[in-house]
Amino acid sequence: MSVPTRDEIKDKDRRNFMKLLGVMIIGAGVAGTLRSVVQNIIPPIEGGASSFPILTLYLPNGNPVSTDDLIVNNPQTVTFNFPLENEPNFLLRLGDSNNKDVEINPTEVRIPANNTKYKVPGGVGPYKSVVAASAICQHLGCIPPEIHFNPPSSSSFPGKIHCDCHGSTYDPYSGFGVVTGPTQAPLPSVVLSYDEKSDSYSATLLVGPTIYGHSSDLTGGSNITPSGKTTVTTTQ
Ligand code: FES
Repeated sequence: MSVPTRDEIKDKDRRNFMKLLGVMIIGAGVAGTLRSVVQNIIPPIEGGASSFPILTLYLPNGNPVSTDDLIVNNPQTVTFNFPLENEPNFLLRLGDSNNKDVEINPTEVRIPANNTKYKVPGGVGPYKSVVAASAICQHLGCIPPEIHFNPPSSSSFPGKIHCDCHGSTYDPYSGFGVVTGPTQAPLPSVVLSYDEKSDSYSATLLVGPTIYGHSSDLTGGSNITPSGKTTVTTTQ
């Protein structure tokens, strides 16, 4: 048996190294493919939905909310979850100081935080006076009863949504825009649709800033069940 030369030994080492490199590259490719497969099987930890659901508003008694169920300038707080569970939104039928319906026109709302604007559709219903928006304060996330609507007859902040936590105020008659800080963002508006035939209301979309505390409007919670419905809650 002949003794290998120095060059032969170097050649063999180089071939072994190349084989090892090949195995590593193939391994990395398989791992990458496996990772993407696993990511597609396991839902993201945050949970959420891929698109906005269309949810008809229902009363706790199982009937759809009709216009007569909504009190003009209701001093009680009426909310419904949308687009996911545990995301409360105000449902308001707005009126003047005599509690007569006020038609809410489409408007453009400014976000003070970044000085951008977006469009908010007007009110819906037979008097175009019904509007909805996130009930999670855009300052630090307080929810009702801390954040609440003050009817036009109130002595403080009449006709405004006021957050008792730190004093932010929003104008529901004008797209839920910011009236006073410390919030630097309006309340995201719910785009409602109204079905004249059945006199019923549905939530279809959110416009404006992202719901406070969420990376997007469609993450951070679970879907509302049964699908197609969300139930209103009334509190003092
Ligand atoms: S959380 Fe509403 S004003 Fe601070």
